[in-house]
Amino acid sequence: MKKTKKDITILAVGDNSDYDTFKKFNKEKRIFAGYGFDYVAIDYQRLFEGKAPQINTDKIIVFLFFPFYYWNKYIEHKNYKGVYGNHNFQRKFLRFWDNFEKKTKRYFADKEILFINEPRLCAEYRDKFRISRRLDKFKIPQSRIYKITSIKEIKNKLAKGHQFFLKPRYGSMGKGITFLSQFDWRTNFIYKDNRIISKRSDHGWKFKDVTGQNDFLRQLLKKDILIQEAVESPIYKGNKIDIRVYTFFNKVLYIYPRRNKADRVTTNISQGGQGDPGLLKFLPVSLIKKVKREAIKVSSRLGITLAGIDIIPEHNCKDLHVIDVNLFSGFPKRRRFNITQSMAKELRRLHNKDKLHFRKSNG
Ligand SMILES: Nc1ncnc2c1ncn2[C@@H]1O[C@H](COP(=O)(O)OP(=O)(O)O)[C@@H](O)[C@H]1O
Ligand SMILES: [Mg+2]
Repeated sequence: MKKTKKDITILAVGDNSDYDTFKKFNKEKRIFAGYGFDYVAIDYQRLFEGKAPQINTDKIIVFLFFPFYYWNKYIEHKNYKGVYGNHNFQRKFLRFWDNFEKKTKRYFADKEILFINEPRLCAEYRDKFRISRRLDKFKIPQSRIYKITSIKEIKNKLAKGHQFFLKPRYGSMGKGITFLSQFDWRTNFIYKDNRIISKRSDHGWKFKDVTGQNDFLRQLLKKDILIQEAVESPIYKGNKIDIRVYTFFNKVLYIYPRRNKADRVTTNISQGGQGDPGLLKFLPVSLIKKVKREAIKVSSRLGITLAGIDIIPEHNCKDLHVIDVNLFSGFPKRRRFNITQSMAKELRRLHNKDKLHFRKSNG
């Protein structure tokens, strides 16, 4: 059989300690070959050390995976004393991506590159405030954000029936979340000896009752946090539900509901929530349509090529709120949906239609 010449190289940049997406992606190497792509994987360390791999095509599509090594060594490291998800996280993360972009462009100065996603956005969209401002700008529905710094004010609001989610401004994976209603305050931070402590692991952030612990709340309100009105999601068989949507080049690749017991605070899969594609058929078609439409709007208006967007429908299953926009979301289980395969296919389709826009590295 005649081997066709490959016209584009997929360059996957990640870390080997990434047990999820980078690994799943690398396993599909052969699928990329089947669609006429060369495939090269490298970790951030090697790339930073200048050990860039040989690439034989003029065009490169760079897939960026979460830089676990750097993150665990320099950002969320063992001796880190601050509270999870604060401004220092962002400062270092911005520097990391800036550095990465400069280096990559230098190594591949003679190539045409397409980043998935843009390194600058990888850093900037870690900021939940920035995301929220953008959603606002484009009139994409989201639950209301409050700027409250005084405990008195927040308690007044709780007494009037408001319920809030407090989230670290630069956090993810459901870590450091606090829920407040008038008689029920829960947090998955550890609050011990009058100090807010962050767990040093990605999993097992358990919620504890902190109702009425004013000192805790007073401290938390001084941190980099976002306060958002809680959305009451529909309950199905004792489970609360939200919806994860994967978009790629402004197309919905996959959508599935996530659920957790109704008395739990979050639905994050990394903290015990479950993906349940079967639930999709119990949700109104009109709602699913709306969810898809808003997700595409998020990806196109915010310029995110590959996104995992979380949307919570209101109890009435009519209105909805975009809750979280992720540039490094986990991938679905392969036997449920092979997202890598579907991205490979989509890339080939787009390229055949001349719809992939590469940029000269040195331009
Ligand atoms: N306003 C809200 N109303 C209801 N549930 C929320 C709200 N905000 C967050 N949650 C719950 O908390 C989880 C984590 O919040 P999210 O904004 O996605 O932060 P993270 O980046 O840590 O995933 C969500 O998946 C959802 O289950
Ligand atoms: Mg989330």
